Amino acid sequence: MAVELDLTYASELLDERDFAGIERETAGAARLLDGRRGAGSGFLGWLVLPRTMREALPAIREAAERLSASQAVLVVGIGGSYLGARAALEYLKSPFYNALKKTAPDLYFIGNNLSASYHEEILSLCEGKELSAIVISKSGTTTEPAAAFRAVRSLFRERYGAKASERIVAVTDERRGALRELCDAEGYRRFAVPDDVGGRYSVLSAVGLLPLAAAGVDIEALLDGAGDAFSRYASLPFSENPCHRYAAARNLLYRKGRVVEVFASYEPCFVQTAEWLKQLFGESEGKDRKGIFPASASFTADLHSLGQFLQDGSRNLFETVVDIRGGKSRFSVAGDASDGDGLGYLAGKPYEEINRSALEAVAAAHAEGGTPTLLLSTGGRTEYEYGMLLAFFERACAVSGYLLGVNPFNQPGVEGYKRNLFALLGKPGYEDERERLLKRK
Ligand code: PA5
Repeated sequence: MAVELDLTYASELLDERDFAGIERETAGAARLLDGRRGAGSGFLGWLVLPRTMREALPAIREAAERLSASQAVLVVGIGGSYLGARAALEYLKSPFYNALKKTAPDLYFIGNNLSASYHEEILSLCEGKELSAIVISKSGTTTEPAAAFRAVRSLFRERYGAKASERIVAVTDERRGALRELCDAEGYRRFAVPDDVGGRYSVLSAVGLLPLAAAGVDIEALLDGAGDAFSRYASLPFSENPCHRYAAARNLLYRKGRVVEVFASYEPCFVQTAEWLKQLFGESEGKDRKGIFPASASFTADLHSLGQFLQDGSRNLFETVVDIRGGKSRFSVAGDASDGDGLGYLAGKPYEEINRSALEAVAAAHAEGGTPTLLLSTGGRTEYEYGMLLAFFERACAVSGYLLGVNPFNQPGVEGYKRNLFALLGKPGYEDERERLLKRK
């Protein structure tokens, strides 16, 4: 099932006249993208990954198979070099992936923060397990993964001696960077991040595909779904195009003062996909003093924490709820003859039905309270349908960025803190910045 957009719960703020008013602009934004004429058009390689990655699939599968001979794979990376794989793993397999009984190895994500305890805890989970590692960094110089990869190298040297390098696969720039140089020096097998694909758009390159293949995900079906979705949303007329209408709806809501978008779902397997979306939209749109701030919530859990605000707080929000359909679980509310808890009216009712009722009840209540919901529905948790969902959001984000009048493919703001961190940590070449920062203290 392709992604569909339902605006029922946004009708108080959006109507067909609004869409008629923005149709031309949206078509213009889409033309900038497809005609490769917009800002950042040197970074549109993600649009063709479903086609260009086909050739690399045998090599990716073969590398993944070798990695899978281990009991656990350490996946080192941060931001765009981490979020997509983790999101897809939890969505397609389970948020409890590592605890599942399975033939594929556990996947431990490291190098995505600077917490000592996080890294110690993961490394202690690896004790006694046969290990391999995937290190992913396009620049090859990002502090968090570079530091974590040192820990991996040292552990692997200790354990596997001269054979350590055989257990490591790198995904990095084809030509530049410290990690690229390490590949030559240490003889790691490597895959390239295409020059024209930025981190947050890289999930369908080896950045996402290699770890996912190691976990047994059908990466070809993922590409199939994404490829079909890219073609579909590039060709449908505006009135029938959920992707372009979603981009338009976001922009219309922004113009009406809705500056925060809460990505939510009623399935916990979506939590990491929401993290991926936060990076995708946040880095793509938040610039030039413009943009919608991307936040996330997991329902129904967060109705018991954020529900009050969503219903009744500042009216500068809207929600984008992803309704994951196609669940087949018959897990139901248990019977209890005594009915001491008064839940008898639900006895035997499948959770799937109750969850759907919750979605409808909440969206209606929030709409009445003044927080609109853009409802996106997608099919089951299959690789093909998830590929479609990823492509839907990537394209919607690019069109949204052009509608907003920004370059959706750069991230100049990310560099500011990175420079300061290098300076404070005493990296050679950053002496002046260091002095300036120390004066601020
Ligand atoms: O989207 C981005 O550019 C960032 O989130 C990067 O992916 C992140 O900083 C990691 O960069 P790298 O892959 O160079 O280590």
